[in-house]
Amino acid sequence: MIEDVRGIVKVSAEKIFMYTIKAITDSLIEQIRKAKLYTTTGKENIRWVITVPAIWDDRSKLFMRQCAILAGLPQKQIFIALEPEAASIFCNNLKTERPENIEDGFIQPTPGTKNMVVDIGGGTTDITVHEKLGNGMLKQLRKSSGKGIGGTTVDKAFLEMIQKKLTGPVFTSLKNENPVVFLDLRKDLEEAKKSVTDEDSDILEIPMNYSAINSISKRQFNTSISKQITDIIVDENLQVDYATIKDLFKSTTDDVITIVEHALQFDGANEVSMILLVGGFSNCEIIEHAIRNRFDTKRVIVPVDASTAVKQGAVLYDHKPEVIYNRITKYTYGMGAQIPFDNKKT
Ligand SMILES: Nc1ncnc2c1ncn2[C@@H]1O[C@H](COP(=O)(O)OP(=O)(O)OP(=O)(O)O)[C@@H](O)[C@H]1O
Ligand SMILES: [Mg+2]
Repeated sequence: MIEDVRGIVKVSAEKIFMYTIKAITDSLIEQIRKAKLYTTTGKENIRWVITVPAIWDDRSKLFMRQCAILAGLPQKQIFIALEPEAASIFCNNLKTERPENIEDGFIQPTPGTKNMVVDIGGGTTDITVHEKLGNGMLKQLRKSSGKGIGGTTVDKAFLEMIQKKLTGPVFTSLKNENPVVFLDLRKDLEEAKKSVTDEDSDILEIPMNYSAINSISKRQFNTSISKQITDIIVDENLQVDYATIKDLFKSTTDDVITIVEHALQFDGANEVSMILLVGGFSNCEIIEHAIRNRFDTKRVIVPVDASTAVKQGAVLYDHKPEVIYNRITKYTYGMGAQIPFDNKKT
């Protein structure tokens, strides 16, 4: 069950996933129809590639498939792709890196190149290591790994900081009485997070719905919120110093570094020449710089389409699934065998 922000309405995860998939696929069909791209535009005429983190277990993958079926996608037309694999296919088919980049000369990896792809998304960081083979196929060198961290763990840290600053009761009342304003605040915090650079700056300004928050404060404390919290509310906006802001990225950045370090502990890891960063959160300069500094013996690259690498790679994968030459299973499987007892040998 998934709860709303107030913890009052509970809806099954199946319903939420189903309606989300339905909304996305309905809208896509509508756009294709409007653009008159094809004569047949039913859901049954399309192969639907759904990507999932490689660290998901089989039950979660099955759950996703079932939700897609409930959303009206024909079972036979559903194809599940693993996200870091899709990202790796995309990276191995890249022609050039960002043109304006100082690090010129990144061309499509040649056969024998061993690359690590780190997909840093909202809720998951997923890692895979592939060697490009002579026929363009990709050989997995170690099993995929990762952790449930990403951009949203920083969002959570931002929200906790605001909760402390606004004082618990105001924050809780805002959540319970005005969930729309609360969700807007979350969105504003996410946008503010995206604007943070690794440069030294003084202040980060975050917009807020002052009147909504102020009316709660007035009711609860008989005073305006800006009088009560003088250190971060200036001109009806939130203003937080950069040192505090940068601190909010620290634990997520450290976690990402640790899982990359861990993923580089296998025989032959020193032959991995490049670390390719993809996923939305790889656009975060603080993360990018931290990885570049820590792994300075490797070439760290953020491709131009880093945030859409998984989607583009998934389409390529659907056209040519055999590009994945092998996969390393999560578990090893054992079988017991016994020769029938032979009385004559006793
Ligand atoms: N320029 C940016 N700076 C910082 N964070 C960013 C930037 N652009 C996007 N993000 C963050 O990246 C995250 C979304 O990334 P992405 O779209 O790859 O996630 P996802 O694929 O939906 O999630 P997951 O892979 O975990 O299932 C969000 O947390 C978003 O705030
Ligand atoms: Mg993703």
